[in-house]
Amino acid sequence: ATENVWALLLGYLFGSIPFGLLLTRMAGMGDVRKIGSGNIGATNVLRTGNKAVAAATLALDLAKGLLPVLLAKLWFPDAVGWAALGAVLGHCFPIWLRFRGGKGVATNAGVSFGLAWQIGLAYGLVWLVVLAVSRISSLAGMSAVVAAAIAAHFLGFADYVVVLVVIAALVIFLHRANIARLLKSEEPRIGGK
Ligand code: G3P
Repeated sequence: ATENVWALLLGYLFGSIPFGLLLTRMAGMGDVRKIGSGNIGATNVLRTGNKAVAAATLALDLAKGLLPVLLAKLWFPDAVGWAALGAVLGHCFPIWLRFRGGKGVATNAGVSFGLAWQIGLAYGLVWLVVLAVSRISSLAGMSAVVAAAIAAHFLGFADYVVVLVVIAALVIFLHRANIARLLKSEEPRIGGK
């Protein structure tokens, strides 16, 4: 039980680093929370027009999910799922930003790769295909988080199914404003106006 708490904290510590906010500030681009959707994720950083900073946000938000899961495999092998949950909770509810963080898509990509490369591959493929077809980031992200949970089930990673279902439910809940826009066909497309 103590191992679970340590793993959760380990994940949270990494996950709560708000790279989208830090990088845009360091680049002198102002507060990303004041533009577009107000989110601190790579999609909204891209709306500033700075592709390099958006790509760096995506990579670092992914890394902060991947790393604690890999470390947990070494340090807390029976509590890897808790590190996964901690990382996504950290990104979505960072104490440093009064618990107002992002929506978990990039961080959960890293988490999925950390849990098992096959789950990560399913996540990445579904994300890319839905993004290529729809050009809607939120739709691709929600599809990918659901795909990861389904892949874990069918590929025999029974230990990770529950945590991935919990994460998927959280990520979808955090996209409720996006879902409302999707239903009204008002969700912006990547590269669109
Ligand atoms: O990762 C967040 C993405 O799915 C949606 O971001 O800024 O379009 O709400 P945004």
